[in-house]
Amino acid sequence: MTAETQQPLLQLRSISKRFGATQALDRVSFDLRAGEIHALMGENGAGKSTLMKILAGNIARDAGEILIDGRSVDISHPADARANGIAIIHQEINTVPDMTIAENLALGVEPTSQFGVLNRKRMHEDAEAKLALIGLRLDPRLPLGSLSIGMQQMVEIARAASENARILVLDEPTAALSRAETEELYRIIADAKDRGVGLIYISHRMEEVWRLADRVTVFRDGKYVGTRERAEIEPADVVRMMVGRDIQDLYSHSSREVGQTVLEVNELCGNGIGPVSFTIAAGEIVCFAGLIGSGRTEMARLIFGAERRDAGEVALHGKPYSAAAPKRAIAQGVMMVPESRKEQALFLDHSVENNVAISSLDRFASAGVLKSRPIRRAVLEQMDFLRLRQSAIALPSRSLSGGNQQKAVLARALLTESELLILDEPTRGVDIGAKREIYELIDELVGQGKAILMISSDLPEAIGTSDRILVMRNGRIKADLRSSETSEEEVMSYATGTAEEEQS
Ligand SMILES: Nc1ncnc2c1ncn2[C@@H]1O[C@H](COP(=O)(O)OP(=O)(O)OP(=O)(O)O)[C@@H](O)[C@H]1O
Ligand SMILES: [Mg+2]
Repeated sequence: MTAETQQPLLQLRSISKRFGATQALDRVSFDLRAGEIHALMGENGAGKSTLMKILAGNIARDAGEILIDGRSVDISHPADARANGIAIIHQEINTVPDMTIAENLALGVEPTSQFGVLNRKRMHEDAEAKLALIGLRLDPRLPLGSLSIGMQQMVEIARAASENARILVLDEPTAALSRAETEELYRIIADAKDRGVGLIYISHRMEEVWRLADRVTVFRDGKYVGTRERAEIEPADVVRMMVGRDIQDLYSHSSREVGQTVLEVNELCGNGIGPVSFTIAAGEIVCFAGLIGSGRTEMARLIFGAERRDAGEVALHGKPYSAAAPKRAIAQGVMMVPESRKEQALFLDHSVENNVAISSLDRFASAGVLKSRPIRRAVLEQMDFLRLRQSAIALPSRSLSGGNQQKAVLARALLTESELLILDEPTRGVDIGAKREIYELIDELVGQGKAILMISSDLPEAIGTSDRILVMRNGRIKADLRSSETSEEEVMSYATGTAEEEQS
């Protein structure tokens, strides 16, 4: 039997789902073969995660059918999905961070004696065995929350492997993974594929999709656009299917006029990093590159006043700047967009409007009274700028798709009208069309004379958008490079330390 005539392992037929006024899915179809990696792509809000939540039994569909091995199955509860061999690694982590690794892995299948007493020893042994399935060696007694997000995801994958899943869904699994963790994940994926597992892989990273996928399906605005064999198409074809047009130059970099120094950092130490020294001028984008754990976020948090400094001086426009807390930093014209929108940024139960406005309220108050109309007008303007649907303004942020949540966090930073913007992985989880818009926006902001400190793990992005690249390793700056004169290889050689080895 050739792949084409083979009975699909999974068929999703004409699935629809509406949330209030939003038609999240409109009669979409998708099929998956055993032993294939099928990438599901589409802009933020296209409906990818919604379809996967339906497949997982987490939310109910309005219409449509799910077939496994050609037979219609009833999936209306997560237990139904499990019973049908479906395992999902969700975009937002689902594990319980206060519990230990073993307790998390045992959720729902706790080993108990005939009297209902939990057998801890067996639970720990089970956990070790499950972790070993994907080649992980971790102490199962550790609290899950003590692991990196990447490792927490690995624990979820271990759970999926232990359930002997035939269908494995990964919804943006590498968004928070380090390079080494990503390679580890690719190995696990290849392993599962060899065993005949069908994998649905959701990602906004084109090079990742090109490396892994056998087929690519694209959704746009809740509608099915098409499915292609990966070998028969180019990335540009997928972009066109996703956004309905070509995107030629992804990065924006107009010629810039560099002005006076905005930020001057001198021998700064604290939060496990330093000493670091550098400057950023008005009209300049400086991007920090480096491996995960190299200290980039820690350094940014020091400058933003989110962590305490141990030593060193920072000056803003030539005047001493001593932000003891983010609130003080914002008052002095420094704003930061943190990397993890879930943990540090959004109040998920609050409206998009409140979330966007929250850091700028001082500007919209007179005599202690908030002026609600100007706030609304300013929020709508930022949403428009970022092409966020204006109708979303009153929705809880929780109901936005992942990428649109990122845009809401950016909108909040822009509304503060800060002189120095610190952007930590600003395009993580953002679709290619919106990325292009964010790059344009950053370009426009520096054009207006703002200074931007960016952190990016996406090397083409780091090089394509910035003026200078500072490479960090082990909490220190190892290189200060002109973006127009460097290469990915050169940046990586400093990030990994091979450049130093060559020199010594
Ligand atoms: N619980 C909910 N309540 C209201 N609207 C929702 C809810 N969940 C999703 N939506 C909406 O449904 C649409 C599809 O969202 P979904 O999360 O499936 O997008 P996605 O393709 O996964 O996007 P991303 O790439 O940003 O993760 C979006 O417009 C989103 O705002
Ligand atoms: Mg999603």
